[in-house]
Amino acid sequence: MKLADNKATLSFSNGSPNVELPVYHGSVGPDVIDIRKLYAQTGMFTYDPGFMSTAACQSAITYIDGDKGELLYRGYPIEQLATQCDFMETCHLLLYGELPDAAGKQKFTRTVTMHTMVNEQMQFFLRGFRRDAHPMAIMTGLVGALSAFYHDSTDINNPEHREISAIRLIAKMPTLVAMAYKYNAGQPYIYPKNDLSYAGNFLHMMFATPCEEYVVNPVLERALDRIFILHADHEQNASTSTVRLCGSSGTNPFAAIAAGVACLWGPAHGGANEAALNMLHDIQRQGGVDKIGEFIKQVKDKNSGIKLMGFGHRVYKNYDPRAKLMQETCKEVLAELGLGSDPLFKLAMALEKIALEDEYFVSRKLYPNVDFYSGIVQRAIGIPVGLFTAVFAAARTVGWIAQLNEMIGDPEYKIGRPRQLYTGATRRDVTALAQR
Ligand code: CMC
Repeated sequence: MKLADNKATLSFSNGSPNVELPVYHGSVGPDVIDIRKLYAQTGMFTYDPGFMSTAACQSAITYIDGDKGELLYRGYPIEQLATQCDFMETCHLLLYGELPDAAGKQKFTRTVTMHTMVNEQMQFFLRGFRRDAHPMAIMTGLVGALSAFYHDSTDINNPEHREISAIRLIAKMPTLVAMAYKYNAGQPYIYPKNDLSYAGNFLHMMFATPCEEYVVNPVLERALDRIFILHADHEQNASTSTVRLCGSSGTNPFAAIAAGVACLWGPAHGGANEAALNMLHDIQRQGGVDKIGEFIKQVKDKNSGIKLMGFGHRVYKNYDPRAKLMQETCKEVLAELGLGSDPLFKLAMALEKIALEDEYFVSRKLYPNVDFYSGIVQRAIGIPVGLFTAVFAAARTVGWIAQLNEMIGDPEYKIGRPRQLYTGATRRDVTALAQR
């Protein structure tokens, strides 16, 4: 970051002296006012619940222009990455800062592929869960447990440990998601196959059985690869900030990523794809397209507590660029599977059209986000609704790891410790139990 020529001046109406605060430029996007010395200079904190105006770090990984609807990984537009690169190239880009050349891609892909198997003992750990446990509950446990199985890569301050844990996490996440699915379905686990692509391998581990040959459908493989690319990183969202905060204490990378998985589970974040599909099912059950008007009325009623899931975003105040790419993939997958007249997709399109014309959504700049379509794609592929967020977690792992490693390498990194405005009781004395 570069110090700007101008400074910010903070003045107080009670006559306290003005405070000058440095301003920094990033490479693109809004400047930031450096308030690190504010407490020392004024005895006051800033108050910003939800981090509406607070940058908690500097980062060179992902840039979002929410007004334009632009998303860049290391400077490359998501549209170019999604159409010209695959997920392995995207992982290399996010982790190391550059797209690989052909030899680099082959080497990186090979390294990831050679780490896809998980310690056999993990199966017995998994068996401790109820068969009907939510996959995200299982994933939180399994990812946290990795630190108990891979002791040689748990020192976050050791660059070699960070490198190997990054590869292990990226490689093993799809294996764990597929294991969680097979456990729930009561089917045998399918081991990874090294001659398949990252996405193809996931499809194979999910849908193959020992009884017959499973052939990966290239359209579904491409669709899944695109889901992985589109979800790979999204700068300082709730789960990534959770990973950074958790990792800032020096905890091991597997524990930090497990914290990210737990945060992603929430319906306002990664759980939205599951919630969006459940919402479409509900409307469908109540009468489908004819009931959209009634549903939209409920959404607009603040007392109903109903939201249009898959709509709205903290940062995008324009169409989420990932939603456009996902809509394209959605059409391709449905055509490939002969589901072109899928009623849920038709319902989603009708709902989107009405919402995009409605004053409530227009005035609040609420547009479809990636989750609006990703649920339909995953369902068409055959992934059960409860597993959607786990697939998102597998995709986001590379972003979490890249952000965690960037933080550890940042000379300005400190343990994260937000401040508070205390509004509780002031000092008081305990009354003896008998007198209370
Ligand atoms: N349906 C109806 N109203 C909405 C919605 C929605 N989906 N989203 C926002 N609003 C309204 C909200 O009630 C508020 O209205 P008012 O100004 O009258 O009080 C206004 O729009 C601004 O919303 P906000 O809650 O202040 O915005 P936020 O930035 O705090 O919330 C959000 C962002 C994503 C949590 C929210 O839009 C939401 O809950 N959307 C549905 C869940 C969803 O699809 N989440 C996935 C996000 S994308 C995936 C990811 O990055 O994880």
